Amino acid sequence: MASIWVFHGPNLNLLGLREPEHYGSRTLAEINQEVVAIANQVGINAECRQTNHEGDLLDWIQSLTCDDFLILNPGAWTHTSYAIRDAIRAVRVPTIEVHLSNIHAREAFRADSVIAPVCIGQVSGLGADGYVLAMRYAIDYQKRRSELVQQS
Ligand code: DQA
Repeated sequence: MASIWVFHGPNLNLLGLREPEHYGSRTLAEINQEVVAIANQVGINAECRQTNHEGDLLDWIQSLTCDDFLILNPGAWTHTSYAIRDAIRAVRVPTIEVHLSNIHAREAFRADSVIAPVCIGQVSGLGADGYVLAMRYAIDYQKRRSELVQQS
């Protein structure tokens, strides 16, 4: 069954404690619970995972299919990981990149995302609401796709 996956990269397990001026006060568990509930309400399966190990994230992305949808906060790998970028492109899974903070309004190195060019779009600076908006988009995207499949 096609699912919406929410993958969080390094240090995002520390949300709630970590630099709340940038990342807010909500924990990762709270954010995950909210976005999964939004998908489940409309009968779509959604699952969330976090890792501090780049190889794990690569394996998870490689296990997706192009029928899935990925909401990804790559954390600091946003700015460095050609491997994650290549994995998204290889699998052709539709992806939205999410950042809690506005990466364009911080240190210069954060403004550059090597992941963004292989994504549908990027949500940055809206805090935890960014995940909610990405989930709403993902749900619409998946519904539109299943309608197209039913018509064909
Ligand atoms: C982040 C922004 C990154 O630059 C940073 O390394 C993070 C979090 C964000 O959600 O704002 O870990 O992805």
